[in-house]
Amino acid sequence: MTSKELVASYTYELVKNKFHKDFILGIGTGSTANCFIEIIKKEKPEIKALVSSSEASSDILRSEGFEISELNDVGGPDLYVDGADEVNDKFELIKGGGGAHTREKIVAAASREFICIIDDSKIVKKLGAFPLAIEVIPSARSYVARQIVAMGGKPTYRVGFVTDNGNQILDVINLNFDVPYETEIRLNRIPGVVDNGIFATRKADKVISADSSEARSL
Ligand code: 5RP
Repeated sequence: MTSKELVASYTYELVKNKFHKDFILGIGTGSTANCFIEIIKKEKPEIKALVSSSEASSDILRSEGFEISELNDVGGPDLYVDGADEVNDKFELIKGGGGAHTREKIVAAASREFICIIDDSKIVKKLGAFPLAIEVIPSARSYVARQIVAMGGKPTYRVGFVTDNGNQILDVINLNFDVPYETEIRLNRIPGVVDNGIFATRKADKVISADSSEARSL
């Protein structure tokens, strides 16, 4: 078993007793979330609804016959399970390596509980080494890039990538992460920014991590 498979199965065992016929489960995006999806596909828990944070995850689940509900129709999920690119000891995250962070942040914000599942390589002392994905309205891309440069950041256009919302991504290094919450808010104030991959306003409630031999709650 890989560390991603291990953390996914450990997490499923931890949460499966919470499931019931009125339970709403939110599912994230990426290779670690996909391991959790594999277990959902196999175990088929009896829950009321599944909400997904990306077309990619929805496609995988639909291909197995699962119905995906709109967040607007079901209200807040009881639990959201998703991966991350970096996690610090306050459970603040960088997400968006897969470019799905805007919808991920919406589902996380709407959920009663957010469990982040990672392998140990994602644990950092300080956020910010992983390039920060910023989703931008296409016509605002150059303007937003200039504002980011003025903040000291170095943006790179993720060429050829279109988000599920029809927008573009700037991947940014060299930003100040002394107070992640402030950087998250400051970036989102730039006109044309849809959202950025810092999850400090809505951080994870629980982080479960694994190496190649064991998984544990941090
Ligand atoms: C997608 C994400 C993912 O959760 C993040 O990139 C981690 O991915 P993986 O589990 O493949 O390492 O934020 O937008």
